[in-house]
Amino acid sequence: MRAACWEDKHKVEIYDVPDPAIVNPHDAVIKVTNTTICGSDLHLYDGVVPSMEKGDILGHEPVGEVVAVGPEVKNHRVGERVVVSSIIGCGRCFYCRNEEYSLCDNSNPNSWMQEKLYTYGTAGIFGYSHLFGGYPGAQAEYLRVPYADVNAFAIPDGISDEQAVCIADAFPTGFMGADLCGLKGGETVVVWGAGPVGQLAMKSAWLLGAQRVIAVDNVPHRLDMAHEVNCAETLDFTETGVTDALREMTAGRGPDCCIDACGMEAHGTNILVGAYDALKQAAKLETDRGHVVRQMIESCRKGGTVVIMGVYAMFMDKFPLGAAFNKGLTFRMGQMHGPKYIPRLFDYTLHGDVDPSFCITNRFLLDEIPLAYEVFKNKSDNCVKVLIKVA
Ligand SMILES: NC(=O)c1ccc[n+]([C@@H]2O[C@H](COP(=O)([O-])OP(=O)(O)OC[C@H]3O[C@@H](n4cnc5c(N)ncnc54)[C@H](O)[C@@H]3O)[C@@H](O)[C@H]2O)c1
Ligand SMILES: [Zn+2]
Ligand SMILES: [Zn+2]
Repeated sequence: MRAACWEDKHKVEIYDVPDPAIVNPHDAVIKVTNTTICGSDLHLYDGVVPSMEKGDILGHEPVGEVVAVGPEVKNHRVGERVVVSSIIGCGRCFYCRNEEYSLCDNSNPNSWMQEKLYTYGTAGIFGYSHLFGGYPGAQAEYLRVPYADVNAFAIPDGISDEQAVCIADAFPTGFMGADLCGLKGGETVVVWGAGPVGQLAMKSAWLLGAQRVIAVDNVPHRLDMAHEVNCAETLDFTETGVTDALREMTAGRGPDCCIDACGMEAHGTNILVGAYDALKQAAKLETDRGHVVRQMIESCRKGGTVVIMGVYAMFMDKFPLGAAFNKGLTFRMGQMHGPKYIPRLFDYTLHGDVDPSFCITNRFLLDEIPLAYEVFKNKSDNCVKVLIKVA
């Protein structure tokens, strides 16, 4: 089959590789029809996530048709149209039974690597480095899906492939960001990053009861989408002092909830600290650039909630723990729990509350994936999210 393989930093190539097959009785194999590229893939593309190897197949947002099922698969049959969660749960461990699928104890065969870095291993993720299991990814013609009964979901009639591809990862991540805010109704929610995850976090914040949504980014067409599609007020962090602006916009109190939808490659908002973090990351003295986390801690109201959905890998410098502690902030974060949210997001989509495909702006074929990475990374051609039509 043809697949998009990580070759090196900023180098993705399409190769012929062996087709996947059923390995374990709970596996399914799907023929991928649609997939996409995530901001998390950009962290791999930029070489800031450890343990990528030449030839690794990328991608974790598959929509496809089931072509084979193992003898223990009960919920799926050949020919069914499915979307697959980016993170892989086993469905049986302590964490999966608590619907914390991204903390699964069983789905990451390389959890020993994570134990060295994080003390405990977490779930496997398709196409997302050896640290997360070394699973071949979804930017390919076929994909092996472990624990298919847990991670694959039959797509209801009435949900399009383009909507479903957003439900594999970007929508559940944005939704979990809003969910972790613990909204009771009436809150002001600020979302840093108006990429696909940020856009869907804004949409979800409204769904869950926010009274006001504010988007922070510096890419004009993404801020325009936040404003026009998601009714967010917008702040360009290169033009405004974000913390001061947010204080003013909230009558001096600060926002109730802050969501990070940027992650470890956030751009510096202050030239000196920005340069410091960029240099330390380049020299591998620091792995995670902390501009957004610091700014959220500064900006959030006392007693507010800081949610981190943007991905961080290892260490960050200059974490303002004193401010976080004395302001009594609550922190919530993590890789998203796909199987917990996917059925609920089908419902929102079917009922017309949200059409998550609004964020898809650019379309490519499988062989054009190297170009799609460039366009998505550079946000050129007004790109917010790409769709890769595989078959
Ligand atoms: N937790 C999870 O399970 C999960 C799942 C999917 C994606 N992610 C992560 O979510 C993040 C966003 O993903 P995406 O697909 O939307 O990516 P993206 O790269 O398209 O979006 C990130 C946005 O952040 C903006 N940005 C950069 N620096 C900023 C700053 N200082 N302040 C405000 N905005 C800033 C960029 O301009 C960009 O628009 C990534 O870190 C990705 O790895 C996490
Ligand atoms: Zn992702
Ligand atoms: Zn599990």
